[in-house]
Formats: sequence, C-alpha cells, structure tokens
Amino acid sequence: MSETVGVEMLSSGVCKVTLIRPEAANALSVQLLEKLKDTLEALAFQKEVRAVVFTGAGDKVFCAGADLKERRRMEEEEVRRTVALIGETIEKVAKLPQPTIAAMNGTALGGGLELALACDLRVAAEESVYGLPETTLAIIPGAGGTQRLPRLIGVGRAKEMIFTGKRITGAEAYLIGLAQYACPLAKVETLALDLAKQMSANGPIALAQAKKAIDNGIETDLATGLELEKLAYERTISTKDRLEGLEAFKEKRKPQYIGE
Ligand code: HXC
Repeated sequence: MSETVGVEMLSSGVCKVTLIRPEAANALSVQLLEKLKDTLEALAFQKEVRAVVFTGAGDKVFCAGADLKERRRMEEEEVRRTVALIGETIEKVAKLPQPTIAAMNGTALGGGLELALACDLRVAAEESVYGLPETTLAIIPGAGGTQRLPRLIGVGRAKEMIFTGKRITGAEAYLIGLAQYACPLAKVETLALDLAKQMSANGPIALAQAKKAIDNGIETDLATGLELEKLAYERTISTKDRLEGLEAFKEKRKPQYIGE
C-alpha cells in the first residue's frame, strides 16, 4: 500500500505537496510523517519554490489525522514520541518561509485539520466536514489545535468545536473564518493553486518578510509588532527585486522577481 508524500513542482513556482495514503484516509502514520517532515525541511531552502499547496490523495478525505490503528498498538513512550513527531512536523509547515495553502479536498479531522491550521490559508470543500474530534477519543488536539483554532475563529467557537468534537461543513468553516474559501469539492485544488500562483508572482523576500511580520506581530503588542514590521521592511530595501518592481512599473510590464 502506498504511504508517501507527492511533491510536484509547477511552472508557476508553486509546489504541490500531496499526502498519499488514500486507502487509510491519508491518516498520518509515522512513516507518512517522517516523509512529510523530510519534504518540508527540503522545501524551506528551495528558492524556486514560491508558494506551497497541501492536498490529499483521493476524492473524499484531505486527512483523517493521527493514525488511530497504529496508535492502538503503541506503548505510552511510543505515543509520546509520535505526538512529538506530529507536533514537530506541523510546526515545520507553519515555519515554511513561503506562503502555504491547505487545499482541503475533503474531510480534515484532528491532526489533519491541525496541519491545515498551520497553513497561511485554507480552502474548504462546501460539502466536506472539518473538526477536532480528539476529546471524543479522550485526548486533546496536540499539534497546535488548541492554540491556532482560537486565534483563528475566537475562543468561544474554538472551545465549542474542541469540547464537543463536532464536525462542521466546509460552508460553515468559511462562515466562521476557519477557511478563507469554500467551494465545491471538485474545484478546491484549482482554486488553491490559482491563489498560490497569484502569490508566487510576487517578491519572495517580501512574502517571507510579510509572513514573519504577521505571524510574530500577532503574538505581541502593537508597538512591538510595528517594530517587527520595520525590521521586515528593512530586509526588502536592499533587494534587487525591489528595484525590479519599480523598473517594471515604469516600463508597464510584469515584474520578474528572483528572490534576491
Ligand atoms: C487510521 C483511518 C483513520 C485514522 C480513517 N481510517 N481514519 N485509519 N487512522 N485516523 C481508515 C478507515 O479505518 C478505513 O479503513 C479507511 O481509512 C477509510 O475510512 P472510512 O471510515 O471507511 O471512510 P469514510 O466513511 O469516508 O470516512 C472517513 C472519515 C472517518 C470521516 C475520515 O474514517 C473517520 O471519522 N475517521 C476518524 C477520524 C478521526 O477521528 N481523526 C482524529 C484522529 S486523532 P478500512 O481498512 O476499514 O477500509 C488525531 C490526534 C492528533 O488526529 C493529535 C496530534 C498530536
């Protein structure tokens, strides 16, 4: 049975990363997590990768979260190691310098939704379901879910989702701001790739600096956030790309950014 991560580099500079384990709802087994972690470590340093889209193989489920069958066979120590591995892997998604989009082409539950929450944007399928059902399994969302969900949709709504373990539709996920888009399942990937393509045309250093300023700034007070923004802006001033942007404007053409 396949249990791997597909990496497809598109001409637009968008890299499509696919969780490939459709026979098990793309559940995050240790083997799949190790592959994903290696993939993420490599992508972070690839200059030609301007944006990353995550998706799942098959046509029904994006990712069903931790592998519950594997978990049943584990002793406590191994559970601890696996939980740490999921956490570290998902943290690597969050820390990618490029913009990231979760093309949730089907259901995302538990660690699967937490992976999507670590992305910059999420595209949901209107008819699919999304949730953090961990408390129904007598555990908690342990890969960022208790922290990222309330930051995204507010404490009350996050507590309701986590305490009840309820599954909401993609349409609802859009309404509460969990997803930035909801569309028919068949269109999820196209929409996400199109968004990523728009981003990949922009200055890569600017994108990375804007991401950093937003992600770090949101965790601090406004004055500190504005200082972080100043530092991030400074990093763009001496770039060739900034000059290219001005030149392209003057010449009424599309800029060609090189990430320098
Ligand atoms: C292992 C899983 C799985 C999982 C599904 N499968 N989810 N295997 N771990 N999390 C397997 C099923 O057993 C089945 O295998 C096959 O995938 C297809 O699943 P079905 O249920 O037959 O398909 P469907 O009816 O379409 O339903 C899909 C589903 C449902 C909605 C995803 O399977 C489901 O609710 N799964 C549980 C999801 C869940 O509770 N996730 C939270 C995990 S906890 P067979 O061999 O029977 O065909 C978590 C904690 C993270 O993520 C903490 C991080 C630190």
